[in-house]
Amino acid sequence: MKKLIELIQEAGRNCVAIGHFNIADLVLLKGVFQAAHELNVPVMVGASEGEREFAGTRQLATVVRSLREEFDFPIFLNADHTHSLAKALEAVKAGFDSVVFDLSTLALEENARSTRQAAEALKSINPSVVVEGEIGDIGSGSEIHADGPGPNHALTTPEEARQFVAETKVDVLAPAVGNSHGMRKSMVTGGERKHLAIERIREIKSATCIPLTLHGGSGTADEDLKGAIHAGINIVHINTELRLAWKQGLEAGLARREDEVVPYKILPSAVAAVHDVVSARLRLFGGQN
Ligand code: G3H
Ligand code: ZN
Repeated sequence: MKKLIELIQEAGRNCVAIGHFNIADLVLLKGVFQAAHELNVPVMVGASEGEREFAGTRQLATVVRSLREEFDFPIFLNADHTHSLAKALEAVKAGFDSVVFDLSTLALEENARSTRQAAEALKSINPSVVVEGEIGDIGSGSEIHADGPGPNHALTTPEEARQFVAETKVDVLAPAVGNSHGMRKSMVTGGERKHLAIERIREIKSATCIPLTLHGGSGTADEDLKGAIHAGINIVHINTELRLAWKQGLEAGLARREDEVVPYKILPSAVAAVHDVVSARLRLFGGQN
């Protein structure tokens, strides 16, 4: 099986992106895995510090590895938004395939210095681990945010990106390119969509020449996602859309029969709802619709 970094680079050459979907339980993992397996495309599942706290760092690594081995299928596990070296080391020692080392709230120089040290430490444990660094502000929280004036995050400049990549030697960079975590209510109920600075992505790509990740993918207009992938995005993160599908699917499962108490009869609705969102996003990232 190809290594994760090879698949990311291959996605770039083919002008497609690898989908990254956050998981916190087996329902989410099953929905993601089924969709990717049907479409036969590599996929990343991610767990943030909070998601790892809930599901168990070593337990997640074991379950994802068992799927990869049993089905001989390229599913990879990412330690998403990891804010300390201790948590990153814990994930890599447990068998995670990649780490998003996120010190983006610090000043650029401090972020770069600590990210470089972290990348060296993580690769000394597993030289194949993919390390992603993050710069710029893309907000926090894969949640439903209140409507109102939207966030006005500054865009990462090509020079900041070039300098950060040169200093840290990260494998992948996550810049701020108009993206933000979570969805506003009007994105759930109405037609509001997120839009991206496509030209800026192109400039950052040519300044860094490394794979780029788009965080905060939920609620982004399809056309913007396609444009971003063509401009140099190689991984797209989706979380809030899955959380929403998980909740709505669970509610549908519970509503079907009021007296049902058997989890494996209630939860398939949630798996199906997650599956449908992942399938649609993977088709888009793979240029299939
Ligand atoms: O790391 C996770 C993501 O960036 C997800 O963002 O909740 O807006 O899809 P999202
Ligand atoms: Zn993110």
